[in-house]
Amino acid sequence: MEDLASTRDEESDNNNSKDNFKVTPWEVEGEIDYNKLVIQFGTQPITFEIIERIKHVTGEVHPMLKLQYFFSHRDLDWILKKHADGESFYLYTGRGPSGMIHIGHVMPWLFTRYLQEKFDSKLLFQLTDDEKFLQSQDRSSEEIRHYTYENILDIIAVGFNPYKTKIIIDTKHIQHLYPIATEIAKRITFSTAKAVFGFSSSTNIGMVGFPPIQAAPCFLPSVIENKPTPVLIPAAIDQDPYWRITRDVAERMGYYKPAQIHSKFIPGLGMSGKMSSSKPETALFTTDDPEVIDNKVSAAFTGGQPTITLQRQLGGNALGCPVFWYLRYLFDSEKQSDERLLKCKSGNLLCGECKSDLSKGSKTFIVEFKKRREKAKDVIADFMLDGEPYEK
Ligand code: TRP
Repeated sequence: MEDLASTRDEESDNNNSKDNFKVTPWEVEGEIDYNKLVIQFGTQPITFEIIERIKHVTGEVHPMLKLQYFFSHRDLDWILKKHADGESFYLYTGRGPSGMIHIGHVMPWLFTRYLQEKFDSKLLFQLTDDEKFLQSQDRSSEEIRHYTYENILDIIAVGFNPYKTKIIIDTKHIQHLYPIATEIAKRITFSTAKAVFGFSSSTNIGMVGFPPIQAAPCFLPSVIENKPTPVLIPAAIDQDPYWRITRDVAERMGYYKPAQIHSKFIPGLGMSGKMSSSKPETALFTTDDPEVIDNKVSAAFTGGQPTITLQRQLGGNALGCPVFWYLRYLFDSEKQSDERLLKCKSGNLLCGECKSDLSKGSKTFIVEFKKRREKAKDVIADFMLDGEPYEK
C-alpha cells in the first residue's frame, strides 16, 4: 500500500524516532507519552483552573475531562473568556471517511455534543472525503463515497442539535470552502508544509494541497456570521498540525486563531495501538451484531496474568488493560471504575468478569445507536450545509 506515511522523508523519520512513538495526522504509532507530546507539539495541558472554569458553565465535570481523555488545548482559556463576555463560539470537528465508525470514534463526538448542549454552540462537522481519497492509492472514490454516507448516519446518530449542526462534505460543498482555502494556501509555503506534515518529493500533489481545505472551516463561521467569530475544535491530538498552520495565518487574514481541545487516542482491544478500522478484530463498530461484539471482547488483550492462580497472587495490570479503559471511559461510573482498579490490582477480580461487563455495556450502547442510525436516514438533508440530500 502506498500511503503518504510511507513516503515520508528520512529526516522526519529520524526526528520522530528519538521517542518510541510517532504522531502525525496520518499515522499514530508506538506507546504514546502524552506529556512529552504536549511539549513536542507546544500545546498546553488542561489545568485544574480551566476545568473549574468549564464547570462554572456546565455545572459538573464531564468524565472525559476528569479522566483526562481530553488532556491538552490551545487557547481554551481564551474561548471561555469570550463566552463569559457574551460572545458565542462555534464548534468545529470532522472525520476522514475511510472506514466504518467504531466506538473509539464516537467518544470525542459525544463530548462535542455535550459542549454543543452546554455552550449552546453551532457546530460544523467536516467530512474530508478528498483527503481520504488522496491519502492512499488503494482507495477508489466509490469506496470513499460509501463510507461518507455510512459515516453521516453515525454522526447524526450521536444526537447533535439538528438546528445548530451543519455537515460539510468537501467534494460536495467545496464552493463554500474554496474561497477561504485559496486565501489560506497563498500564505503557506511548501517549506512550511513539508516541515509540519512531513511531505516529501514522492507525496502526491493532492495531499500537498489539501491542508487549507481542512483549515477553511475554522474561518467559515466568520464568513457566515459576517464578523470575526471564535471557533473551538475538539479533536484527537494528531490533528494539531493542521491547526498550527491555520493559527499562523489567522490574524493576517483578519480572523481569530482557532482554539482547540485535544483528546488522547482510545486503545484498541489488541496488544497495543489505538482502536483502528484497519484492524477490525480490535475495534467495536457501531454496526456490529451482538455476537460479533461478544467474540471481539472475549478475544481482547487484557492486563491479566497468564493463569488464574497467578492473577490471584500477583493481581492484574489494569492501567495497561484496554478492557479497563473502555469500561472507565464509557460505561463505569467513577466509583465503579476506582473499585474495579483496586480489585484487579489486588488479584480479586478475574478478566472474565470485566470482559462480560464490557460486552454488556457495548451491546446495549450499540443496539440503541443502531436504531438512531436507521432513523438518521430520513433527516440527512437537514444536516447538510446546502440542505440537500446525500444519496448512497
Ligand atoms: N483529517 C481528519 C481525519 O482524518 C478529519 C477532520 C477534518 C477533522 N476536519 C477536522 C478532525 C476537524 C477533527 C477536527 O479524521
